[in-house]
Amino acid sequence: MASHIMLLSLLALTCSVGVLAFEPSPLQDFCVADSNSSALVNGKGCKDPKLAESKDFSFSGLHLPGNTSNFLGSNVTPVNVAQVLGLNTLGVSIARIDFAPWGLNPPHYHPRASEILTVLEGTLHVGFVTSNPENRLISKVLQKGMFFVFPMGLIHFQRNVGYGNAIGMAAFGSQNPGAVTIANAVFGSNLPIPSEVLTTAFQVNKSVVDFLQTKF
Ligand SMILES: *[C@@H]1O[C@H](CO)[C@@H](O)[C@H](O)[C@H]1NC(C)=O
Ligand SMILES: *[C@@H]1O[C@H](CO)[C@@H](O)[C@H](O)[C@H]1NC(C)=O
Ligand SMILES: *[C@@H]1O[C@H](CO)[C@@H](O)[C@H](O)[C@H]1NC(C)=O
Repeated sequence: MASHIMLLSLLALTCSVGVLAFEPSPLQDFCVADSNSSALVNGKGCKDPKLAESKDFSFSGLHLPGNTSNFLGSNVTPVNVAQVLGLNTLGVSIARIDFAPWGLNPPHYHPRASEILTVLEGTLHVGFVTSNPENRLISKVLQKGMFFVFPMGLIHFQRNVGYGNAIGMAAFGSQNPGAVTIANAVFGSNLPIPSEVLTTAFQVNKSVVDFLQTKF
């Protein structure tokens, strides 16, 4: 009997922890973010709903290509709660990703959202790596019209493997998915991670670590 109760409590605890890890369902129509509000709802305050207007819920320019003249050959145009205040608390957002030929969206993860990427133009090699200890790469070459899911919190990348430009449209299960680019976070952090940490972790000497730190 006691073990039954313990099992049930454990189950209840597991479920509630699982639920708490996600955005709670809204109990109101919307909460247009108001950075001046002192009453915060999961990160941002709400504008008086009577003052909400269509511009709080819209964004334009997604037909325009992003500037891919950078060392990666890619560009992300985010449309999340930072751009569209009406997305606050709703648990959805998108981004347009442009790729020059052979352009790369480098390994990164989103701490707060799974992602669905749809290829609108071109051919992308995409993949994600499962967590420890397997660290299995699950990848695929996507043609126009195909989509791929990147589970929340897993490291993933997208690379244009076609000869023309490529365009992807990403949908996220959070209004504020966040992004951590691995190379920038590890070698370009502010302040820098001590080089002894990185030389041991990556099994290289200090010159290699210094070199990588100058890159980010
Ligand atoms: C916040 O306050 C500033 C200064 O009063 C104002 O310019 C701005 O529009 C306000 N922001 C919102 C979202 O109401
Ligand atoms: C694209 O970005 C590069 C590098 O920042 C810049 O030199 C160039 O003027 C930009 N092109 C356009 C069309 O904005
Ligand atoms: C550090 O490692 C690199 C790459 O293995 C090597 O080329 C270089 O000579 C090493 N430098 C020192 C100071 O050991």
